[in-house]
Amino acid sequence: MPADIRSLYSTAAQGGPPLFFPDPEVPVSFNFDQGLAAPETFPQQEILRLAQKILARDGAEALEYFDAATGYEELVFGYKGLRGQLAARYLAKDGRSIDPRGIILTSGSVQAIALAISGYLDRGDVAIVEAASFPYALRFMEMAGAEIRTVPVDADGMDTQALEQLLGTLAAEGRRVKMVYTIATFQLPTGMELSVPRRRHLLELAERFDFMVLEDNVYGELRFAGEPLPSLLGMDTSGRVMQCNAFSKTVAPGLRLGWMAGSPEGIGALAGVRQDLGVSQWLSRLMAEFMAEGLFDPHVAAASAVYGAKCRAAVAAVRAHCGDYVRFREPRGSFYLWLEIDERVDWARAAELAGKQGIFFRPGERFMGEGDGRQYVRLAYSHVTEPVITAGIERLGAILRACARS
Ligand SMILES: Cc1ncc(COP(=O)(O)O)c(C=O)c1O
Repeated sequence: MPADIRSLYSTAAQGGPPLFFPDPEVPVSFNFDQGLAAPETFPQQEILRLAQKILARDGAEALEYFDAATGYEELVFGYKGLRGQLAARYLAKDGRSIDPRGIILTSGSVQAIALAISGYLDRGDVAIVEAASFPYALRFMEMAGAEIRTVPVDADGMDTQALEQLLGTLAAEGRRVKMVYTIATFQLPTGMELSVPRRRHLLELAERFDFMVLEDNVYGELRFAGEPLPSLLGMDTSGRVMQCNAFSKTVAPGLRLGWMAGSPEGIGALAGVRQDLGVSQWLSRLMAEFMAEGLFDPHVAAASAVYGAKCRAAVAAVRAHCGDYVRFREPRGSFYLWLEIDERVDWARAAELAGKQGIFFRPGERFMGEGDGRQYVRLAYSHVTEPVITAGIERLGAILRACARS
């Protein structure tokens, strides 16, 4: 046995979070933990049919690194046919014309985020994020040696007045802010949407203070209430917005297909740091065909309706069983309820009891570092059935009452 191999790990590898969280002591009966798409929405039959169709049509070409007709460009940007489909959709939905080199295909949207961080952030640069945000993005920022600063989120999303103040302070200190990362639509974990005036304000600030906006839109399409809001990418005229997205939440996470879209100059930074020879030609062709056949939009609409029904079941159960021991705002899309647990509840004890009864959810601290002293829980209703949602929340309510001071 060699001496401790871990002492050879890079600083980044040594400083990471635990690889896995401990296995629960009891079987998980009510799994509100991971943000997973509902398996019943996966288009399995269509995928099977399209897999055969693509192989029969394209033969070995579908299994190459890149399409010979397009050439090496695909090793960096990915299959042009899929980029073309995505660009056509951006034009139709956001009114934004995207150059073929303004889209880079990635292994899920997380790789798009990782490439953006490595393409833009140097050690000592500042990145600004929402006070509770997507932990994987934050980890990539930390690994890049960036300094992470936060701004609060309320019912209208990121507080852009607070952002403006922070930008002013940092500018006065001579600090370089290069990126603001925002999950503008159905913010994770709060579920809130950045209002249109704030979207405008953020874009003005990006020009005035000269930084890139990384808009994470993985949940943005999964709307089941309210009117769609324009995306930051659609509103942008300066080329400073790049938007990551993926099929992970809308179609199936196992496809591991995502992308970043923006101006060719904006995406150039990601292309400049990519060295992995691209994403699966095979699956990219399959998803390009899925879109070309007109299956994507109806699929997204049907999936959103499934999440709407689950969300309504979760909201009704929380109202019926958790009473005033929790506060929350009803989301208009996506996978989660973000619950603030009342101070009267001994939350440490309640969380332990919930675990013992097989109820799992994501503790709020995972999104907020040390947290702000309040007790939050992210409850994912997306991948469990409605009876499980109702029964699990009923049990959670009983635990909250049992752990509350009167
Ligand atoms: C805000 C946010 N961005 C990105 C992702 C990652 O998605 P993908 O599977 O496309 O890498 C997730 C997944 O949980 C997410 O919550």
